[in-house]
Amino acid sequence: MISFDPKSLVDGLLDATIVLSFDRSGFWRHAARFRAEDLEVSLAGKTCLVTGGNSGIGKAAATQFAARGAGVFLLCRSRERGEAAAEEIRRATGNAAVRVEELDVSEKQSIRAFVRRFRPSRVDVLVNNAGVLPDRRVATEDGVELTLATNLLGPYLLTELLLPKLEAAPDARVVSVASGGCTRRSSTWKRSSPAGPTPSTASFNMPARSGPSSS
Ligand SMILES: NC(=O)c1ccc[n+]([C@@H]2O[C@H](COP(=O)([O-])OP(=O)(O)OC[C@H]3O[C@@H](n4cnc5c(N)ncnc54)[C@H](OP(=O)(O)O)[C@@H]3O)[C@@H](O)[C@H]2O)c1
Repeated sequence: MISFDPKSLVDGLLDATIVLSFDRSGFWRHAARFRAEDLEVSLAGKTCLVTGGNSGIGKAAATQFAARGAGVFLLCRSRERGEAAAEEIRRATGNAAVRVEELDVSEKQSIRAFVRRFRPSRVDVLVNNAGVLPDRRVATEDGVELTLATNLLGPYLLTELLLPKLEAAPDARVVSVASGGCTRRSSTWKRSSPAGPTPSTASFNMPARSGPSSS
């Protein structure tokens, strides 16, 4: 039987307005439905990956995963910042299974190198958290605009390449963290030809949907 939840419908409609969700009213509306007991779970035996896990929301999420017994990997572009955060999380939670992997999510070679060397056979949780919002146009070494590479193309490629390990988990989750800030910048996106991909996405060499690529 299909159940109808009017609150979800109202939430969906208000969230789409941005104005009534990206402000304090949106926070209170969602907070009213938050149930603390939902967090009372054991994550023992689970493997959780958090991009940008060395600060902010990523570090907070990684700490909560570790506190519930998960094996946690902080995927960070700076090993030094990652190790400092990992040490703090290990001390705060008493969970020694908090490790760091170097990953620059804006660079496709870094993503591919990480996936090639990552040994665990399954991934239970992937949090695509790393994000940037630069105030001027910056290009990555791949020639892709930095926000697009970090917040969208990189997470997409990482998720695609990790799919076999996500599918190996009984109930895997991929959490994508995004920002309403994307509504406050105009896009300079232009299609190179009516049928073809943009130069940016083409240079990112997305894998075929059927499986990971080793190149
Ligand atoms: N805070 C908010 O109010 C808010 C609101 C809406 C959405 N968000 C979203 O929430 C996410 C986290 O935000 P936050 O506030 O916690 O930000 P933050 O404290 O600035 O953390 C961002 C994290 O992403 C990492 N990062 C950036 N570029 C990276 C790259 N190329 N490769 C790997 N890691 C990279 C940073 O690493 P470094 O330490 O090396 O720089 C840092 O660990 C972002 O996606 C953001 O858009 C935040």
